[in-house]
Amino acid sequence: MIVKPYSPNLGAMITGLDLSKSISETELKFIKDTFHEFQVLFFQEQVEISPENQIKLGKYFGELHIHPAAPKMNNYPEIFEIHTHKDSKISNGAEDFHSDVSCDTEPPLGTMLQLHILPEYGGDTMFANMYMAYEALSDKMKSFLQELHASHESEHFYKDRYENQNKVNKQYPSAIHPIVRTHPVTKKKALYVNKFFTTRVEGLNIEESKLILKYLFQHCEKTDFQIRYRWNKNDMAFWDNRCTLHKAIWDYYPMERKGRRVTIKGTIPY
Ligand code: SIN
Repeated sequence: MIVKPYSPNLGAMITGLDLSKSISETELKFIKDTFHEFQVLFFQEQVEISPENQIKLGKYFGELHIHPAAPKMNNYPEIFEIHTHKDSKISNGAEDFHSDVSCDTEPPLGTMLQLHILPEYGGDTMFANMYMAYEALSDKMKSFLQELHASHESEHFYKDRYENQNKVNKQYPSAIHPIVRTHPVTKKKALYVNKFFTTRVEGLNIEESKLILKYLFQHCEKTDFQIRYRWNKNDMAFWDNRCTLHKAIWDYYPMERKGRRVTIKGTIPY
């Protein structure tokens, strides 16, 4: 396995490992260590992985999450299908910076996305380093935020998705999480708010909450903490939702972009 940093901000590219085959204990440990060091891994030079094998691959890292509102593959509820094309009315719903499903009480540890069809150009994904976003704050701001929690809600976001799918059993998870979370493995502190799901700072009045969130969203989205990944066919990205945000850019309409994602369950943020 060859690991090459993608940028000083975050990310690494990995070649020399075929993800369609079984992974040894040594390889798994190496991937986990590299994942915790670089926050997002891009496995390159891959073949298209079958849904069964992608589920198997995800399970090396933990139990898989089943998304209540995402388009799924028949017979594979763990697979979240990403597909945009000339008839798409909305993008895949990831066009603002977010951490996947942060509205869950135990939000996901990470997500693995492989793209099989790419637009001729465009369709990049951006990632932002939330350790860096936290570290860039002043000590006073860090200690102010340290005690605060925020609500993460889904109704405003999942409603449109459900309408597109004519879904009957609608679920709208919500949770309250610390604004500064400690990564359970690296023990580093990261900002944990995002425009998609974070709606309110607990204990502040509405006006204060709006101002603080506006500031934090802008801060987290500074280019200083980001990378922009240009996909190759069949690349598999594996991102850590506990210390990064990401955003898919829908700049390629009416071209097609298609892939599959599995999401690995996480633990309660602290
Ligand atoms: C996602 O948030 O899972 C989608 C990312 C992408 O399509 O690049």
